[in-house]
Amino acid sequence: MKGGAINATLFVLFVSLLSFHSYGDIGQNCTLKCHTEQLGHKFTHGPIEANGCAVCHPLLTKQNKFAKHPQLKKIKTKDFNSYCFACHDEMKMKLSKENHLHKAITKKNCVSCHNPHGASNKSLLKFESSVKLCTSCHDKVMPADSKGHQVQKMKEGCLSCHAPHSSKNHALMKEPTSAELCLKCHTKSKVLKDGRHLLASNKITSSFKFLHTPVREGKCHSCHSVHGSENKFLVESKFSKHTYPKDLLGSSQLCFQCHKIDRFYKRLSIKTNFRNGSQNLHYLHTLGSNKKRGCFTCHNIHGTQQDKLVRESFAYKQLTLPLKFIPSATGGNCTTACHKTFTYNRKVRFKNEQK
Ligand code: HEC
Ligand code: HEC
Ligand code: HEC
Ligand code: HEC
Ligand code: HEC
Ligand code: HEC
Ligand code: HEC
Ligand code: HEC
Ligand code: HEC
Repeated sequence: MKGGAINATLFVLFVSLLSFHSYGDIGQNCTLKCHTEQLGHKFTHGPIEANGCAVCHPLLTKQNKFAKHPQLKKIKTKDFNSYCFACHDEMKMKLSKENHLHKAITKKNCVSCHNPHGASNKSLLKFESSVKLCTSCHDKVMPADSKGHQVQKMKEGCLSCHAPHSSKNHALMKEPTSAELCLKCHTKSKVLKDGRHLLASNKITSSFKFLHTPVREGKCHSCHSVHGSENKFLVESKFSKHTYPKDLLGSSQLCFQCHKIDRFYKRLSIKTNFRNGSQNLHYLHTLGSNKKRGCFTCHNIHGTQQDKLVRESFAYKQLTLPLKFIPSATGGNCTTACHKTFTYNRKVRFKNEQK
């Protein structure tokens, strides 16, 4: 309500500004006499061009005196946003329609990013790039030794993925899910400079029969640090694709961000479905074996053609060995080069013959 009243007052002021040139003279005097710095910007704000200092500095209009100069600074209210909305009602409308407002607007104000008078940057922005602008407050978003996504090198910087004012999506994202953001750029598979292959984002979601839940939900950012990471492929925490990683738990950190580690403890077989009676088969193949197999030996990360994210093959030295997995209601069976078809059953322990 209060804001509305201010808007109305400003509107009247604005209209009077347009109809009485004397107000224009006030502006001219300000800038001619002292505030030459408010002119001559590469981009000048609309009302300044019309010499309307008084629209936003109403005290001056009232007193019509230039002697009271320090008062120029004292805009009647610190609610700068209301001044801006007085003319930028289209912006006000837009913000009211979208449910995620940037706190830079609600906690701070429009002039924390825009210069109200003029600027050497487009859209009256205080900094020459969105990266500089955004990191002036978000200084911790990008890791110092960022690999992969060098946001500062992206054409639109932070604005490639985020809207500056408001959004229908959380985290001010320009698309509803991070998977849709990825697709804006990763439309084609490619080979990186160092020879690694990078699949197109839609290949990752469309080439598998079974998808890992966060992939199916389009939450690519739950594993990939979109702002940059010290790990290959922007993976958020350590993950090794080695068949026998040196430090099994340390190199599976990524998985333990979401999955409890206790399913790998011998006695806690009840915590995993990969068990034969009470024999914990996750433990048996990983921590409980002298050949500690990594998660990637059996599981693919984005998705698979077999259920339970079980891969169809794995790497052994120079070879690629098949892995055939068939789940059942109470367990499943697996045929690999390591052993012939072995069956497990959660209800009753199945007796597999040794090879
Ligand atoms: C669109 C509204 C608007 C118009 C028009 C406007 N100002 Fe301002 N002015 C502001 C705001 C908002 C601030 C406070 C900025 C801040 O605190 O960051 C300000 C601050 C100032 C200051 C204090 C120093 C500074 O730069 O922050 C001066 C001097 C000033 N204005 C002069 C002028 C002159 C001269 C004109 C006319 C040529 C003018 N203003 C027109 C909104 C406006
Ligand atoms: C008296 C009316 C008025 C007020 C008050 C006002 N503006 Fe403006 N603003 C304009 C006009 C007119 C333009 C030029 C519009 C155009 O070129 O499309 C403009 C342009 C802009 C632009 C540049 C748009 C572009 O596409 O380059 C920005 C950013 C902006 N205003 C921000 C603000 C902010 C922030 C405030 C509050 C401090 C504010 N305005 C207050 C009238 C106003
Ligand atoms: C966090 C920084 C930030 C804040 C706070 C902010 N803006 Fe902006 N604004 C931007 C950026 C960045 C752009 C340029 C967008 C682009 O190029 O796509 C922009 C563009 C604009 C434009 C011109 C283009 C458009 O989207 O219409 C207007 C007008 C504008 N802002 C008004 C405002 C008003 C009014 C406020 C306060 C309610 C405000 N801004 C607060 C960063 C900000
Ligand atoms: C004047 C300071 C300021 C500037 C400049 C600024 N922000 Fe923010 N931003 C905030 C504040 C305050 C929050 C609320 C969360 C917090 O305190 O970190 C926030 C939150 C966010 C969020 C999280 C929103 C959510 O709902 O989770 C995103 C994303 C964001 N800003 C992006 C940007 C981008 C992109 C830019 C540059 C266009 C930018 N910010 C510039 C102050 C700023
Ligand atoms: C490639 C797309 C992309 C780019 C470029 C990008 N972001 Fe983000 N940003 C995201 C995604 C995705 C999220 C996570 C959304 C979620 O948590 O659901 C996010 C989250 C955020 C958050 C919320 C807190 C957090 O850290 O998760 C802030 C703040 C933020 N970004 C600021 C920035 C700034 C500043 C820049 C530019 C330096 C930037 N972003 C560039 C995609 C991007
Ligand atoms: C559960 C965690 C997780 C989720 C969710 C996830 N990824 Fe990945 N992603 C990984 C891991 C782990 C790697 C392999 C890292 C390595 O090779 O060192 C990877 C590798 C990649 C690669 C490079 C290798 C390749 O196959 O081309 C791309 C591209 C990629 N992910 C994109 C995506 C996209 C797009 C999404 C969302 C649709 C997504 N990821 C969701 C964990 C995840
Ligand atoms: C604004 C464009 C843009 C968006 C949006 C984007 N990327 Fe990227 N991404 C790039 C660029 C540029 C590279 C550098 C490699 C290249 O030249 O393609 C890259 C590289 C990568 C890499 C390889 C990193 C490495 O190890 O070298 C992965 C993985 C990746 N992006 C995942 C994602 C994911 C996941 C998303 C969605 C959350 C996403 N990207 C969104 C532009 C983008
Ligand atoms: C961002 C969270 C997240 C991360 C990180 C993550 N997962 Fe998952 N994963 C899930 C969710 C959610 C499910 C669905 C079942 C559940 O809620 O446990 C799931 C299910 C699974 C399943 C069972 C699939 C099925 O069809 O029943 C396997 C196997 C799996 N994840 C392996 C991994 C491996 C290996 C890693 C490490 C590379 C990993 N996950 C990292 C969230 C995650
Ligand atoms: C020897 C193969 C093998 C290895 C190694 C392996 N898993 Fe599994 N995992 C399976 C099988 C088979 C299932 C399906 C069990 C079922 O539902 O019948 C499974 C199921 C899962 C599930 C679903 C929940 C559960 O426990 O039943 C998660 C999560 C999971 N694995 C994560 C991991 C992680 C993380 C690693 C690495 C630390 C890993 N797995 C290593 C074979 C393996």
